[in-house]
Amino acid sequence: MEQKYTDVVTAVRALISGEKEEMSVLANVAAELHDSMGYFWVGFYLVREGELRLGPFQGPVACYRIRHGRGVCGTAWEQSKTLIVPDVEAFPGHIACSSLSRSEIVVPLRNAKGEVVGVLDIDSKELNAFTPAEGEMLEEVCAAITETLYSE
Ligand code: SME
Repeated sequence: MEQKYTDVVTAVRALISGEKEEMSVLANVAAELHDSMGYFWVGFYLVREGELRLGPFQGPVACYRIRHGRGVCGTAWEQSKTLIVPDVEAFPGHIACSSLSRSEIVVPLRNAKGEVVGVLDIDSKELNAFTPAEGEMLEEVCAAITETLYSE
């Protein structure tokens, strides 16, 4: 992995090590990714009562609830995999929280059993902003959260 990405994963691991309070950890991870990567919008949606609900984030205000299979977030949840959307206007059913968002990546957040308990959602004002390598880095960030928060 690129040095820059390795550094971000290392920083996140150090930041959350030993802390079990879910909202605090997710808030700090959003802040760390926002500052280190310069993302326009970065945050979490969490599975609550069968839908995704807005969790900690950095960036402009966003929609509160997303249904299973809806938008990029609900689709990543349904398919249980990372989705990279180079042009949000070309994604059927994309939910536009900000008209400035042009591309997006969504990474599932899993519990220790591998079940999706939320998603990490990142938006860019540029088209085609996210690479597969960046997706791998963000998957490692989510794996670090799983270890810290959702493992025994
Ligand atoms: N665009 C997302 C909705 C969340 S906002 O980007 C913060 C989607 O289509 O699921």
